[in-house]
Amino acid sequence: MKIAVTGGAGYIGSHTVTLLLQAGHDILIIDNFANAADDIPDRVAGLAGRELDVVRADITKPEAYSARLVDFSPDAVIHFAGLKAVADSVADPLEYYRVNVGGSLVLFQVMKNAGCRRLVFSSSATVYGDPDRIPIDESHACRPTNPYGRTKRMIEEIIEDWGRSDAGLSAINLRYFNPVGAHPSARIGEAPDGVPNNLMPYIADVAQGRRERLQVFGDDYDTPDGTGVRDYIHVMDLAAAHLDALDLTGRSTGVEALNVGTGQGYSVLDMIRAFEAASGRRVPYDVVARRPGDVATCLADPARAEVRIGWKAIRGLDEMCNDAWAFARGRNT
Ligand code: NAD
Ligand code: WQD
Repeated sequence: MKIAVTGGAGYIGSHTVTLLLQAGHDILIIDNFANAADDIPDRVAGLAGRELDVVRADITKPEAYSARLVDFSPDAVIHFAGLKAVADSVADPLEYYRVNVGGSLVLFQVMKNAGCRRLVFSSSATVYGDPDRIPIDESHACRPTNPYGRTKRMIEEIIEDWGRSDAGLSAINLRYFNPVGAHPSARIGEAPDGVPNNLMPYIADVAQGRRERLQVFGDDYDTPDGTGVRDYIHVMDLAAAHLDALDLTGRSTGVEALNVGTGQGYSVLDMIRAFEAASGRRVPYDVVARRPGDVATCLADPARAEVRIGWKAIRGLDEMCNDAWAFARGRNT
């Protein structure tokens, strides 16, 4: 197939494009490289042993990529591009609505012009907000608690409305839980600029000696060891889910949401211990106050994805930590 991938140079996008190329698909990445290094497409092509096309464009600016997309005439679009830092979205919500919601609207219009009606969208477990029940299945209410989460839910709703107006649309909103880890080659992975927002890259920085100590945000939650519990998912398992979701868009129409998680929860202390074991390094930490907006536990019920697209996570915590560590060491700066 011909697949256009917005945000294909980013963390999750680059892993997914690698698998798509290896599966024989032709790829057009649309990315403005706001949060990706320039050499990622070349690395991905090297890993997959196949070339790909790249348009350096901002999804909010149709004139920058519309002609290329129409010309490419994709069978499907995977839409990763967007801004993803929760705290930044609280500080500058208008920018998050402009890029995430506004950019998605522009993209969907361009897709319509290109005659493309198959879509896989990067949504997030953050759309559920503070959960009423654990594990969280897709029928759980959506009550996002920050602007970033609201952009994701709004985009899902736009896609749902699009589907109501066009019986030929086939779209899947993949609700990712906590993606971690890296490609086993250690050539691509998560490489945030500056201070990492998320736990795993922060732990990797501490293990590597780039930062002195981890701050553990609260040990008084109602969890087995008092620290927050999350559903960490290996980015290669997550990438694979996109290929299975794409297959479903080829054999059915409609719009649906699928959780992408393992169903297995780990606490912050579990993550520290697992990373110490993988790296052979110590990860010193201090327990500090809770981070505002954090929930005690966020855990997927991933059963529906197995039923609908035959997808199930196969990589465990050791592999997540080993691959994250190999990539962190390779960054070596
Ligand atoms: P990322 O920042 O690594 O990737 C996003 C990519 O989009 C980057 O390559 C960036 O340069 C590009 N981009 C940003 N704004 C753009 C614009 N206006 N036009 C074109 N390209 C633009 O993030 P990621 O972790 O790979 O996340 C991918 C998607 O998955 C995002 O939509 C994110 O919200 C969603 N998601 C991520 C997580 C997570 O924890 N990483 C969890 C749930 C959902
Ligand atoms: C995990 C756990 C923290 C950092 C975020 C977004 C969510 C989704 C995934 C995009 C929590 C604790 C963290 C640190 C810590 N992204 N922690 N010290 O908050 O579950 O989810 O990323 O859609 O929308 O909110 O992930 O990795 O930030 O935190 O103790 O320095 O680690 O309190 O319990 P989170 P995270």
